[in-house]
Amino acid sequence: MSLDFPLDRAAHPLPGAERRAILADPGFGRWFTDHMAVAAWDTERGWHDGGIRPLAPFTLHPGAAVLHYGQEIFEGLKAYRHADGSLWLFRPRDNARRFAASARRLALPELPEDAFLRAAEELVRADADWVPEADADGPEGSGEQSLYLRPFLIATEPFLGVRPSAQALFRVLASPAGPYFPSGVTGVTLWVTETYARAAAGGTGAAKCGGNYAGSLAAQNEAREHGCEQVLYLDSAGHGTIEESGTMNLCLVTRDGELLTPALGTILEGVTRDTVLALAPELGLRPVERAIPLAELRSRVAEGTVTEVFAAGTAAVLTPVTGFKGEGYAVTVGDGTPGATTLALRRAVLDLQYGRTEDRHGWLHRVR
Ligand code: COI
Repeated sequence: MSLDFPLDRAAHPLPGAERRAILADPGFGRWFTDHMAVAAWDTERGWHDGGIRPLAPFTLHPGAAVLHYGQEIFEGLKAYRHADGSLWLFRPRDNARRFAASARRLALPELPEDAFLRAAEELVRADADWVPEADADGPEGSGEQSLYLRPFLIATEPFLGVRPSAQALFRVLASPAGPYFPSGVTGVTLWVTETYARAAAGGTGAAKCGGNYAGSLAAQNEAREHGCEQVLYLDSAGHGTIEESGTMNLCLVTRDGELLTPALGTILEGVTRDTVLALAPELGLRPVERAIPLAELRSRVAEGTVTEVFAAGTAAVLTPVTGFKGEGYAVTVGDGTPGATTLALRRAVLDLQYGRTEDRHGWLHRVR
């Protein structure tokens, strides 16, 4: 039986004037809309009780497995308002597929792709007034307003033994979003941590699970202590190759026209990463996925054959990396300002997402 998401409309949505004030400057992740998508799963009934309901807290038994062993996964995707008022999701099936893959890795039930998609669509329809207008004419960094969707799945069975939970809850939250980094596209600096690793072969690095992000917070603090906004991880096997930043994939632009990024394996299979790899040839770049030693990154940035570095993620879109530091060294990328190729790629991604260029890849999914 397929899972449906009928709407139970909120009796007391936020008044329009307050919603508009939030949409004028939403920041990232600070506000939530009037509704959420819900569904439940257990071993007897499978998926059931789907719906779009008024946003509300829920109660959990203190023994719920998620609270003890972190059996949890999540996703991030965005809804965009095009100039004609229509609403669109970008590559939502890729998020649905990754959600299912993460569920398999965390021994959670797989939500069928169609149900994932319907939950996202119905939530955006219910909260359509919360999808901000894009500010396409503003300075770089302004035009990325969207409605960020946060699907997640938690293990709820009250049980202290270590085994897969027999019960789970699915929710999708919606949160109006501006730029992830308050600094916008002025760029961020990365701290190359040699204290912490993000993932090991056979671990959960490729899954989008809360534990990966909880484990990143101490490294993030270390980055801040060194005056950097984000952390850059190396592989955990001691090969000295770069992996990803705390919340984003990393890409390099070389002087001879490569778009170079670490190969998949222990890193997150980012949808934005894949998008820039696919768009690269349209901007005259050759996409290359391979292991990248930190030593190569350092020497090539220093000699100028790696001309630009940027980070890619749904929340952060494309964020220029203007420099990086590690124990005993600091490197400036290019002249320390966002690179022209990074900004062109960023513009190409945003133009697609907001329907300003032709969607030749079939990535846009109309919701309304
Ligand atoms: C995203 O880019 O959507 C993420 O999930 C990163 C972060 C906000 C945790």
